[in-house]
Amino acid sequence: MRLNHFNETLWCKGVRCGSVDELEVLISREQIAGRVAELGKQITADSAGETVIFVGVLKGAAVFLSDLVREVKLDATFDFIGVASYGNAAQHGNIWDSTGEVRLTKDVDRSLRDKNVILVEDILDTGLTLTFIKRLLLGHQPRSFRVAVLLDKPSRRKLAIQADYVGFTIPDKFVVGYGLDYAEQYRNLPDVCVVPGV
Ligand code: IMP
Ligand code: MG
Repeated sequence: MRLNHFNETLWCKGVRCGSVDELEVLISREQIAGRVAELGKQITADSAGETVIFVGVLKGAAVFLSDLVREVKLDATFDFIGVASYGNAAQHGNIWDSTGEVRLTKDVDRSLRDKNVILVEDILDTGLTLTFIKRLLLGHQPRSFRVAVLLDKPSRRKLAIQADYVGFTIPDKFVVGYGLDYAEQYRNLPDVCVVPGV
């Protein structure tokens, strides 16, 4: 399946490699909607009778979180944290190689102490970022802590960390869309697409 939203030049490592309508759809918007509804049902059942706070990791998880929370029939609210990795493509060879050394750029607005927290992330890759965030949020002493990720790339894991809720397990490919970016581009694509050559 090919995208046909807008015709924009696509750059891979500074080299023109096509246009956005050459991106290949890996997971369609219909598949995403179906799976997010299932995850919402599962979370609703698992947390019956509880008040839950969803904590999204900016910016990649914003789209997933906004769809997911509307599929959850619970007394719930949400907040966001922002993180920035110290790693960059020039130092680490590849845009998706994170060092795991993460800096908090935005903290939660309200205390998480004694709350049932569900952290919402776009993708679990090496696990370095999530391990850092988990350690940080556990410092707030929540009553319970669970993790929901839209995508899981287990083949790249460096640290043994798992999500409690996984939308889709995907192969070792660089993906964009539905919140995920390549150098801040393509977050608004409705489907999850593979960027060729990255
Ligand atoms: P980790 O520390 O390697 O698990 O990195 C997780 C973070 O890397 C995610 O929150 C994303 O920001 C980014 N990332 C990893 N893989 C991809 C991808 O395929 N597309 C876009 N971003 C990715
Ligand atoms: Mg991210």
